[in-house]
Amino acid sequence: MSKPTFYITTPIYYPSDNLHIGHTYCTVAADAMARFKRQTGYDVMFLTGTDEHGQKIEKKAADAGMMPKEYVDHIVDGIHKLWKLMNISNDDFIRTTEPRHEKAVQKIFKQLYDQGDIYKGQYEGWYCTPCESFWLDRQLKDGKCPDCGRPVQKAKEESYFFRLSKYAPRLIEHIKTHPEFIQPVSRANEMLQNFLLPGLEDLAVSRTSFKWGIPVPFDDKHVIYVWIDALSNYITALGYGSEDNSKYQKYWPADVHLVGKEIIRFHTIIWPAMLMALGLPLPKQVYGHGWVILDGGKMSKSKGNVVDPVMLAERYGVDALRYFLLRDMPLGQDSLFSNEILINRINADLANDLGNLLSRSLSMAEKYFDGVVPAPQQQDAQQDQPIVTMAAQLPGKLEQLMNGMRLAEALTAIFDYTGALNKYIDITAPWVLAKEEANKPRLATVIYHLLEGLRIVGVALKCFLPDTAEKIRAQLNVTEQDFTWQSILDYGATKTGTKLKKGEALFPRIDVKKELEELAALEKKAKQNLAADSQMEPFKPEISYEEFDKLDLRTAKVIAAEEVKNSDKLLKLTVQLSDQQRTIVSGIRPKYTAEQMIGKTIIIVANLKPAKIRGILSEGMILAVGNEGVDALIETDLPVESGVSVH
Ligand code: MSP
Repeated sequence: MSKPTFYITTPIYYPSDNLHIGHTYCTVAADAMARFKRQTGYDVMFLTGTDEHGQKIEKKAADAGMMPKEYVDHIVDGIHKLWKLMNISNDDFIRTTEPRHEKAVQKIFKQLYDQGDIYKGQYEGWYCTPCESFWLDRQLKDGKCPDCGRPVQKAKEESYFFRLSKYAPRLIEHIKTHPEFIQPVSRANEMLQNFLLPGLEDLAVSRTSFKWGIPVPFDDKHVIYVWIDALSNYITALGYGSEDNSKYQKYWPADVHLVGKEIIRFHTIIWPAMLMALGLPLPKQVYGHGWVILDGGKMSKSKGNVVDPVMLAERYGVDALRYFLLRDMPLGQDSLFSNEILINRINADLANDLGNLLSRSLSMAEKYFDGVVPAPQQQDAQQDQPIVTMAAQLPGKLEQLMNGMRLAEALTAIFDYTGALNKYIDITAPWVLAKEEANKPRLATVIYHLLEGLRIVGVALKCFLPDTAEKIRAQLNVTEQDFTWQSILDYGATKTGTKLKKGEALFPRIDVKKELEELAALEKKAKQNLAADSQMEPFKPEISYEEFDKLDLRTAKVIAAEEVKNSDKLLKLTVQLSDQQRTIVSGIRPKYTAEQMIGKTIIIVANLKPAKIRGILSEGMILAVGNEGVDALIETDLPVESGVSVH
């Protein structure tokens, strides 16, 4: 009988820069799911890839003096390496620049055009270049991109349109009648309330203003605009639209598209509408995960606040990083990353609970039974029953949690069992039993339960921490066959008489204080390197003239200055602006002393909303030069009055 299938995808990533732990998070979660399903008897297709077209890439390549393809090839190599390092078991990797994808996308576009679902028109709206998204007036937030908050530009051009509006009623119906389609459920309401019920507009699906895209097959002035290109990857990778579509026949519809919360909209509106138009079945589920947050915001290269997965994996091991991402960051919500949380988690769960359990159990087996698995002989219902019951319940519990994409809870269940085994050592106190020969049968039973428990833990961890599971298997010296999912459905597959092979500690304990200091030093150095590499800080997002014109810059003369108490940086300045005086608190010490400041004519932002700093109302801000701190003030020795505009 053929196995049931399971098709899971990650989004295809923009190869615009190195991927960070936010991207790693999604891919590792999909990997754990794929491995779990393979382990539990499914024929799995796990797809990831890269989304390589668009204006942004075209521009970056040009800036780097390269052809777009050459530019993306290099980055995609790095992405392959990252997934290899992270032990990602994807079955395929699709690049949107591959002929198999491009040809099929052109076919899809042509079919939609021929059947009247794509038509030519004029596009007028707002375009956010970084997000590659068009927005309508009513969708803007304070006149800016509702996704990233950056300024948008007016765009008007000839464009092909997809009749998205036509599919709204069917989409609404589908979402309402398939509660499992959008997960977590709260996201379904969001889609209905914010997008579907207010009414859908037809979607511009081609562009003429850049070239780096798949040409519209019957009008090469146009390239296909990002979402039709990108979303189709989920079927083009299966051979849809090619001569051999056997994989499509086998795996479609996808079981889960795992995506970040900001792109759920595209996956639950545009994608199903496209599929409806093509007459294809819809994916069974789109699961929207939260973001890895750092310093209060989404991690992103443009903000310069990314955490590098390669550095973390090299320092702590791939499995430690995988564990942290999966255990500490429940899929549905945003989760904070910090070095401290990561290190404490590694120490508490991996070094202590799991690592110690293995090393203690094997040491005892070595000491009391010459490193050979003893035969269980004398049960104690009260002491043994709880761990045996837990072991029996674990597989079912894990299947239930994993099928609900509750990966963090599944890991918690495994570690609850590990905790119970550690407690079992404490209550059975094998070292006390070992003192009397008469207790040997009982001691044999206790050690047996521990070794069997470790085998079960190892099997259960396989999909989350593949290398660690393998190390556990090797130390217990059980065969591959006795290390399958099937083998833990019945208790007791550990074979008496097996010679154990105690090895190194699974996870060395980390000295938290020392490690945090080293990491801080590394981060500082990385920042310096970054600054040295680029010679300057990254630019902030573009603003319009209107936005710039809101700034009121003025000359101001410092007439008094004093140090702010209990601060080694702040000075309280009194400045003259024509006939007005103001107080400004500024962090310019130790570069400038109070005495040095008096008499200077400086430039201030005069219309900045006053703010209390150390209890003093500061009514403006001084302009200064410097990447992080203050290197120099902007002052003028021109013969100007105070209060004069600067522009
Ligand atoms: N190319 C599109 C997806 C097309 S899918 C047909 C795209 N690419 S992306 O590289 O910008 O983002 C890919 C995924 O990474 C998204 O699901 C996004 O949510 C995820 N993440 C990016 N930063 C993230 C965090 N800080 N945390 C968690 N995931 C985040 O969008």
